[in-house]
Amino acid sequence: MERKGIILAGGRGTRLYPVTEAVSKQLIPVFDKPMIYYPLSVLFLSGIREIAVISTPQHIPIFKELLGDGSRFGAHFEYIVQPSPDGLAQAYILAEQFLNGAASALILGDNIFFGHQLPKMLINANSEEARCTVFCSQVSDPERFGIIEIGQGNQIISIEEKPKLPKSNFAITGLYFLDHNAVEISKSVEPSLRGEYEITNVLQHYVAEKKLDANLLKRGFAWFDTGTHSSLLRASNFIETMQTQQGLMVACLEEIAFNNGWVTTDALHMAAKKYSKSNYGVYLESLLSAV
Ligand code: TTP
Repeated sequence: MERKGIILAGGRGTRLYPVTEAVSKQLIPVFDKPMIYYPLSVLFLSGIREIAVISTPQHIPIFKELLGDGSRFGAHFEYIVQPSPDGLAQAYILAEQFLNGAASALILGDNIFFGHQLPKMLINANSEEARCTVFCSQVSDPERFGIIEIGQGNQIISIEEKPKLPKSNFAITGLYFLDHNAVEISKSVEPSLRGEYEITNVLQHYVAEKKLDANLLKRGFAWFDTGTHSSLLRASNFIETMQTQQGLMVACLEEIAFNNGWVTTDALHMAAKKYSKSNYGVYLESLLSAV
């Protein structure tokens, strides 16, 4: 059974207030496209096209309007309501029916990944259903994150939340490739003192079973969690710089779908026409002339 994707795009986004008072955090732009395009592109690059978007009751209709049923990307999107933001691991419980026994890749709607050979790493992580991989990024301030200790062959030996004496500089990011057991494990986990289903507690199960590998994002990789005004601006500036320098777009969903062989040039044509007044459309047009 093919692995399915989940994007967790709810939450309150309180650290971005007042920006996110009336708008979903994952719909605000990171430079030239809605934030959710970036995690969605990561799932597409992994080869995953059956995807559930989880969000708040008030924002689900807007995500539907933006992304539709996924058919224009040769993909299939479903939408699941999270009545209140009760933790990241709740995603697995809410997506039980959608997953229907499949393994999954869960990505947080505010996480952006960029780096050489990322597509290869993603395809690799997605290659076996029984394989469990979390993407971990080198950070300068490990005391702010969930930090891993790594054993042989990148197997994770331990995870510590916000450690005073970190065992490495690798933080767990918001991208988790887990097997079909994630739903049952999440159900068995008690909510924490702050009343949330903690993803770390789910990951600890896999660590205890020696089943969790780390994919290390080392030098030359960028990982952004766009949770604050400053990190949002940094991410926007980074994307603008990369795109302007290289003339290549980051997270252009139509381009990835086309390269994956999920859609024909007709879909590119349609999108190029629809967006013709913006640089996004001009970029799609340039892809068509290169075909
Ligand atoms: P957070 O950054 O922890 O939460 P948040 O976006 O609500 O922000 P704040 O703490 O400022 O209020 O969440 C990371 C991502 O996961 C973000 O995209 C929101 C999403 N999320 C959910 O969809 N449901 C949840 O229950 C939680 C905790 C987060």
